[in-house]
Amino acid sequence: MIREAFRRQYGTDQGVRVFRAPGRVNLIGEHTDYNLGFVLPVALDLACYVAATPSPDGRVHVYSEEKHESREWLAAESGALPPVHNWSDYPAGVARELFRAGYAIEPQLLLIHSTVPEGSGLSSSAALEVSCALALLRDQKFDALRLPELCRAAEVAFVGTPCGIMDQFVSVFARPNAALLIDCRTLEGQAVGLPQNVEILAVNSMVKHALGQSAYKQRTEECAAAVDVFRQIDPAVASLRDVSVALLEKVLPSVPHVIGRRARHVVMENERVRLFVNASCRADLERMGQLMVESHLSLQHDYEVSCAELDFLVDTAIGIEGVFGARMTGGGFGGCTVNLLQRGVSERFRLEITAEYQQRFGITPQIYECHPAPGAGELKNSEKIPDPAPLPR
Ligand code: GLA
Repeated sequence: MIREAFRRQYGTDQGVRVFRAPGRVNLIGEHTDYNLGFVLPVALDLACYVAATPSPDGRVHVYSEEKHESREWLAAESGALPPVHNWSDYPAGVARELFRAGYAIEPQLLLIHSTVPEGSGLSSSAALEVSCALALLRDQKFDALRLPELCRAAEVAFVGTPCGIMDQFVSVFARPNAALLIDCRTLEGQAVGLPQNVEILAVNSMVKHALGQSAYKQRTEECAAAVDVFRQIDPAVASLRDVSVALLEKVLPSVPHVIGRRARHVVMENERVRLFVNASCRADLERMGQLMVESHLSLQHDYEVSCAELDFLVDTAIGIEGVFGARMTGGGFGGCTVNLLQRGVSERFRLEITAEYQQRFGITPQIYECHPAPGAGELKNSEKIPDPAPLPR
């Protein structure tokens, strides 16, 4: 299908290759990545696809099937591209970072088609960045470990979002049928198997509050301020990752109220990731669900990145029979919740949560089944999803 679209757009499909990078849902470990802590995302079937072939005109052309818009630039000038503040800054930013890192940016025709819903908190931007990076690199040898960092750099320095490494990392390195435990300091990944008898569903609140962007940056600043306080007590603290629960409890009474609550969220959330992984290994679904709800409450009250729609979706979900737990996932202020369900109850869950949400907010939520998918790679002609890069350990 993407090849047909390519032919329609560019009048050829000679030498076209297709690259895929998935979106993700984060099971637990929210707002911990830029604090160099732990996260546990799962890559999704929802993904961004980029079809690409060399171009004879010296230029890189990008066309978005969803936006019906294009952008082009001289390949040789990829290192000096300016942002234009729309979707095309993701591919352009990636081209600039790759170029500056010493990779060749060859003239190409690119067509982008994404099934990751934009603004849903399922990481449509990382999927776009990583799939474009693979297409732009094409046959060049590259270090898979650098790929998430280069894509993140495009987002931070070019697009201007001060995000962490989780989304790009899982998009590159996800394992099929497993969640990925990422240590955001050492950049090591470990596949974590999930119990057999569960289903994961993401429920899209269909809202994205404008506050999200500025609040995200503010949280990163508040965390940096918290690090300064803890460092006065223990000079070894370089990020909130280094703060133990014991140190947190000792220092909390003397920390300014807001800063203290932000720190408490991050320290306890890292702890919850560890406990969740243990619970998952024991197939202790009740405990996994409990930890998800604790995570949500902490994001709601201590970190203050939730919103009425997400709180309602979580409260409603955990009242439905067969639901072990639910929480907001991603940056917050809208987007999705992630829900852990007993296998077999998803039909009833869909009906109930849809009816309740419609009644309360007049909005129909979209619901996605989350089957842990593999990380990014090239699609071969059979369109079979290939094995992702080996995991860094
Ligand atoms: C966004 C960012 C991630 C991460 C999450 C919150 O999705 O892109 O890096 O910080 O928010 O966990």
